[in-house]
Amino acid sequence: MTDALTERQREVAGLVAEGLTNRQVAEQLGISKDGVKYHVTEILSRLGVSSRASVREALWGPPEGAAAPPAAQPPSEPGEVDFAKHLLDAMRGSLLQRVLRIATATGVVEALRESPPASATAIASATGIDVRYARAILQSLAAHRVVSYRAATRQFRLAPPQRALLTPERPDSFLDLIDSTTPRDPADDRLIALIRAGGGVRLEAGMANEWENLIHILPRPAHGLAPAFRAAPGLADSLERGISVGEAGSGRGRLLIELARTYPRSRFTGYDLNPTAVRLSAADAEEADVGNCDFVEADVTQLPERHDLMLAFGMLHDTPNPGAIVEAVARIIAPGGLFVATEIAASSRLERNLGRPLMEVMYDLSLMHCVPHSVACGGDGLGALWGQEATRDLLAAAGLDVEVVRSQSDAFHNYFVATAGGRPAPN
Ligand SMILES: C[S@@+](CC[C@H](N)C(=O)[O-])C[C@H]1O[C@@H](n2cnc3c(N)ncnc32)[C@H](O)[C@@H]1O
Repeated sequence: MTDALTERQREVAGLVAEGLTNRQVAEQLGISKDGVKYHVTEILSRLGVSSRASVREALWGPPEGAAAPPAAQPPSEPGEVDFAKHLLDAMRGSLLQRVLRIATATGVVEALRESPPASATAIASATGIDVRYARAILQSLAAHRVVSYRAATRQFRLAPPQRALLTPERPDSFLDLIDSTTPRDPADDRLIALIRAGGGVRLEAGMANEWENLIHILPRPAHGLAPAFRAAPGLADSLERGISVGEAGSGRGRLLIELARTYPRSRFTGYDLNPTAVRLSAADAEEADVGNCDFVEADVTQLPERHDLMLAFGMLHDTPNPGAIVEAVARIIAPGGLFVATEIAASSRLERNLGRPLMEVMYDLSLMHCVPHSVACGGDGLGALWGQEATRDLLAAAGLDVEVVRSQSDAFHNYFVATAGGRPAPN
């Protein structure tokens, strides 16, 4: 439906959907109020809706595809929704403080203040920081609505109200307040130092603290493979009968252990580069008493084994070369096998993600964890929101036929269900 809109109209519609007034939209985008009014009339007509309130649904559709916050669930107790919203607002606020501190300490805020609308490359050259970090910081700032983003030119702009509040030595400046009230997280200090020095840090280097935390806080693939069954109807039966399943980047191994318990006739092997993750997963499998599940320290691009089904949950964007993983998986499952990957439910285009629930949090976590890891590995710094279009293209480039499934039960992720060479799934 949004294909009917121009880039500019999509930008305006995104802000309207967030509840901004015409004046606020005008300030954000640096255009006149009359211009916004004109765009809104056009948007309503092109979307075939009659009110600003309907723009939100027309734009983002039902909650299924979007990362729906807990507040979107019907409350079981009075007050539950408000408390969920309160917690989410607190989380957003504290992350915004941290991102603003990082953006200020790395010179990004100053560069934005002093330049006309600028691309990530321009901000990188003005600050001397790596463009992968400049892009990630700007994306976070855009998600928090600190800067506006013009998709047609890929430029970011600090609008006058934000510029005023983020200018030092003005009586209304927030900079000192932000600096003095943001909790000093050693991980942020390290990130700031890394960004200034142009380095990265591998996730596994922080094991037992940051990496462990991240693995624990990420939404679990609670419903396992269930969403994929819609695109691969024979898969559940195959698992019942017994097939061989491998997981690329099995992390803490929870998905495989759960699957091994559910499908005792199938055989499961998790591969991960991280020895600690492999050791902990193997211990968990033993404690869970599942005899059909192993964890192996291995680079999945080097596997001689074949599997009927390969999984890669939330791992492709973190690898320095996701193309190599996908090509290896295509080889491992051919002929006739199946590949199921999950990635955060997002578009590859920033402007399509802006204003979606929890996107700020996703972009912030990506800046703080995924991008430094990718930089350390010499990757492209794709970030956790590299998105549906890029993932689909990558799978197609490896000769896989792919279907994207969105799940109501796991709204945070897109499920990519791909078959090798268009052959049928195992049955
Ligand atoms: C973000 S974690 C995801 C872990 C798990 N799938 C989950 O959903 O919690 C990515 C994992 O992929 C692993 N990994 C990255 N590249 C790999 C490769 N080439 N071979 C095996 N594991 C890899 C990392 O060590 C890390 O444990």
